[in-house]
Formats: sequence, C-alpha cells, structure tokens
Amino acid sequence: VKYPIIQAGMAGGVTTPKLVAAVSNEGGLGSIGAGYMDAAQLRRHIQEVKKLTKNPFAVNLFTPPVYDASKDKIEKTNSRLQPFRDHLHISETTKIDKLTDSLFLEQIEVIFEEEVSICSFTFGIPSVEIIQRLKSRDIILIGTATTVEEAIANENNDMDMVVMQGSEAGGHRGSFIKPFEDSMIGTMALVPQASDVVTIPVIAAGGIAEGRGLVAALVLGAQAVQMGTAFVTSLESGVIDAYKEAIVNSHEDQTVVTSVFSGKPARGIQNEFISKMMDYEDELPEYPLQNSLTKSIRSEAAKQNITEWMSLWCGQSPRLTKRQSARQTMLELITQVEGLVKRS
Ligand SMILES: Cc1cc2nc3c(=O)[nH]c(=O)nc-3n(C[C@H](O)[C@H](O)[C@H](O)COP(=O)(O)O)c2cc1C
Repeated sequence: VKYPIIQAGMAGGVTTPKLVAAVSNEGGLGSIGAGYMDAAQLRRHIQEVKKLTKNPFAVNLFTPPVYDASKDKIEKTNSRLQPFRDHLHISETTKIDKLTDSLFLEQIEVIFEEEVSICSFTFGIPSVEIIQRLKSRDIILIGTATTVEEAIANENNDMDMVVMQGSEAGGHRGSFIKPFEDSMIGTMALVPQASDVVTIPVIAAGGIAEGRGLVAALVLGAQAVQMGTAFVTSLESGVIDAYKEAIVNSHEDQTVVTSVFSGKPARGIQNEFISKMMDYEDELPEYPLQNSLTKSIRSEAAKQNITEWMSLWCGQSPRLTKRQSARQTMLELITQVEGLVKRS
C-alpha cells in the first residue's frame, strides 16, 4: 500500500466494490465491510473488487457475538416498533438474523478460498484456532481496540496491527473488554498512549477526514489512519443520497452514541427514531437481536427516503466531508499532507 490510508470496512451496504477498488487503486487500502454478508455475497464482492483493482484490499468481519436472547425483551421491543412498521406498510414478519459462529466460519472459508490477503475484525478478537488458521496462510490480521488494554489484548492474541478507534468514530463501538461508557477515549489521547505500549503498528481512527487529521495521527505515533465517515459521502458509497446529504449538512454536535438501532452502541446523527426509542434503551434486546428487529424499518425507511428512521452512522467530523469521488478524496488527502509536511 503506497499511502497509510485505510477506508474502513463498513457493513450495511456502504462499501461497494467500486468504493473499495477506488481507494486501493489510488494507493490506499480499501476494505469490504462484510460483517453482515453471507458466504455468497462475500464471494461476489471479493470477485468484483478483484476485477476492479490489482492492488491489495481487506475484508472486515465481525467477531461473533455472545448474547442473551430474552424472549420478554424481544416481544416488548417488537410491540414498540410496530407503529414504525405500520407507518411504513411493512407486512412481513421479523426474522432474527443468525450472526453466529457458523456465519463467521463460512466467511472465513471464503477468505481462504478467495485468497484474501488482509482481514480486519471488530467487536473482539477471534478464537485462537481461527487466528492460527488465518496466520498459517500468511493473512495479515488487523484488530480493533478502544482502550490501551484492548490494544494489548490484540497484540497478545497475534494481531499484526491494531485500529485504535477513538470516541469520535462513526458507527459501532468496537469495545470488548469494558462497557462502552468506560471506553470512550478520544483519538488524540488514545493513539499516543497505545503506541507507547504495543509494538505492533497502530492505526488511528475516529474524526479523521482530511490531511490535517492524517498528519496529526502520524505525529501521535500512528502508522496509518482508518477513515469511515469521509468515504460514506463518496459518490461510490452504496447508501442513499439523502444519507450522504445528512452527513455533509451535519455539525460536530449533532451525533450521539446510541444502541436503539442494533442493541450495540454506535455513533450516528441524532434523528426521530433515536428520540422515540431512547427511553427504552436499557430494555432493548442485545445485539444482534435488536439489529434484526429494526432491520425492515431501516431498509424500508431508506427506500422511502425517510432519513429520520434510518441509522445514519457518522463520526464527529461531518463538516470535513464532501460529496465527491473517493479518488478525489484520496488525491486531496495526499496533496494536503504534502503541503503540511513542506510547511513544517
Ligand atoms: C457507516 C459506518 C459503518 C461502519 N461499519 C463498520 C464495520 O462494519 N466494521 C468496522 O470495523 N468498523 C465500522 N465502522 C467504524 C470504522 O471502522 C471507524 O472506526 C470509524 O469510521 C472512524 O471514524 P470516522 O467515521 O470519524 O472516520 C463504521 C463506520 C461508519 C461511519
């Protein structure tokens, strides 16, 4: 990879093959957000990306969750969500997705069969057995951490690099040791403290969207940055225009960390769904159950352009984002960095 710029794997349709390939073709590292994909979808995406770029790219996976499937919580939440479904004319019954070990193992098989060379993870560290199998094929492994303690756990479990996800970051919190409230450390504090302690390369993520953030991250001890929000607004990203528009028109104080969409805390733009559901936040079923319960509402709302009921994942630097091609974003980043480095 020519430049230390990683486009975050973003599950849920953001990372089209065109986006991943555009970033890799410009010398960054594109990543397929494969967390929710089944084996066939993942294979299709990988093959599509391979057609569009000869450069390396990564696949990002979710470490399988352990959760408590309380029927009572599911039923209560289901009835609270019914008014949204009625309004959107959703008639089909809710299916609970199985984000289980078996889906993860299927995804890992595809990684082997398609000879993917870089694999990143969030929501925890895969089992020793999976790590050994991946490493025996020389696949580069990138973990995610939100505290120094989690960075150490990644290093001790043989991850080759670790993404330090600051509290500014858009999307789900990757925290897996302590509750998320105790792991909300800003990128500025997290990156130097982690890079002092671990020997594996640290990748800074959270609130970085242009050259100033990239240079700052490198000065703080990171060897690369991972950017999410800045690529959600790219022309190649798979989300609807209204979502991209919502990001570029948002301000730094308009995002919140909420569990109402998926049962797992994630940062997104405050909207009506969050306001209506936040009072029940403590009573929701855990991830991935809540994610399944809200899935039809989120996807139907997207079809009907109702951003108020969608999960608009977004970090704390929306003012720095632009609606332009990923190529343009990459070119601007590189020019900005060169300008900043010359000035110093
Ligand atoms: C829309 C969106 C979806 C995301 N999905 C994932 C994901 O599937 N896997 C992952 O490791 N991180 C995911 N993230 C988090 C990113 O890896 C990264 O931590 C974050 O985007 C960095 O902050 P930024 O958004 O301010 O650039 C997502 C972020 C966004 C904005």
